[in-house]
Amino acid sequence: MNTIICGLQWGDEGKGKIVDFLTEKADLVVRGQGGNNAGHTVIAKGKKYVLHLIPSGILWDKQCVIGNGVVLDPVGLCREIESLEAEGVPITPDRLLISDRAHVVLPYHRELDAAREMSLGDKKIGTTKRGIGPTYADKANRIGLRLADFRDPAKARELIETRLEEANRTLEHHDLPTFRAGDVLVEVEAAIDRLRPHFTNVIPVVHSSWKGNETILFEGAQGTFLDIDFGTYPFVTSSNTTSGGACTGSGLPPTAIDRVVGVCKAYTTRVGSGPFPTQNDEIAEFFHSRGMEFGATTGRPRRCGWLDTVLIRYAVMVNGVTDLAVTILDGLDERETLKICVGYNIDGEIHEFPPAERDHWDKVVPIYQEMPGWQQSTSGCRSYHDLPAAARNYLARIEELTGARVSYIGVGPDREQTIIR
Ligand code: GDP
Ligand code: IMO
Ligand code: MG
Repeated sequence: MNTIICGLQWGDEGKGKIVDFLTEKADLVVRGQGGNNAGHTVIAKGKKYVLHLIPSGILWDKQCVIGNGVVLDPVGLCREIESLEAEGVPITPDRLLISDRAHVVLPYHRELDAAREMSLGDKKIGTTKRGIGPTYADKANRIGLRLADFRDPAKARELIETRLEEANRTLEHHDLPTFRAGDVLVEVEAAIDRLRPHFTNVIPVVHSSWKGNETILFEGAQGTFLDIDFGTYPFVTSSNTTSGGACTGSGLPPTAIDRVVGVCKAYTTRVGSGPFPTQNDEIAEFFHSRGMEFGATTGRPRRCGWLDTVLIRYAVMVNGVTDLAVTILDGLDERETLKICVGYNIDGEIHEFPPAERDHWDKVVPIYQEMPGWQQSTSGCRSYHDLPAAARNYLARIEELTGARVSYIGVGPDREQTIIR
């Protein structure tokens, strides 16, 4: 049974925790897109881990793969490996395989990311400044470097020199420091050498796992509305975060996929700029005062709001969600009344789906349905029937509005605080 786990909102839905929970019964965990813009939190045996590039499966001594669709920052990955190893999690070449087709995030990508953001002024995307956009842009422009290119350092140097001709012109234009190929290589050399034993052609490995009827999990990064095609463009990331990205990013075909678990919070959050119709400052204050909803990668406070089922319904369709995982239900425990957005009013017209036109987002007036809260703690609940009736009604309403079955419910950040229905 091979399962894609993907986010249905704007990222940070709790994918890391759900992947960790499902990994116990898996053989292989694969990341197929994104980079270290992701921050996946797992709390296991009282210890907190935040994973950026390494699949969350690593905490279970399972084999993990970083696929061709990921953009890989070698220095960032080495830092992550060191911090996991310091926590007693060994990262050996047989446990972490990295596709030699993955594109490499280089120091100038991060500078170009920052330069673009600066020049956008108050229209900035609010990126994680990890160089993700410029690295995917180089891939699409056919001027990127893949890990395989570093097998021949002289060739890598030549490719970087060519790329820098244009990149330096852009940086000069922004009065930013330019790069020399030699310095770029020096900066990444040690990291590349450290990672070299992990680089491989992962295709035979993932295919033999599939053909051997092993269980493969695909760990999505970001969320549906950050998807470059289906998200709130241009306020998106630069990869396909929806389920299709798992296939193109790993080399496993759609016929290998049995199930898609869509992860959504019981409410909505977003980091960075862009539309967010159900945003609500009072709810943000409610979570922030409890130390919740700060970004796992950048530490930025997340914007917060009510659950938006216009988004979830659409996300269920484009991802082919077979099962919903609703996380942080416990986050709503204290609330007296809950609101669910069931439709968008745009210029007096009712819309059931998110608009494509950028200026329509500013005009969205959410149509809300109110539901009673349960005002008791759910964090100790371990079965669906332990949940208060009002919580079960809330979940049932999500199912009605989105057309997907709620199969997992998160009632706390710990591994154990997950209900299987
Ligand atoms: P990801 O990027 O989708 O993996 O999510 P993040 O790790 O960025 O953010 C999710 C946050 O919610 C983390 O701090 C998790 O520890 C926490 N979390 C996940 N599931 C639950 C849950 O069911 N209840 C509570 N209270 N926290 C949760
Ligand atoms: P996980 O996997 C939340 C957001 C950034 C910004 C936009 C583009 O933890 O859910 P980028 O650096 O990718 O070019 O930034 O996307 N973003 C995320 N928001 N969770 C993430 O990952 C994100 N990765 C990128 O905040 O708005
Ligand atoms: Mg996150």
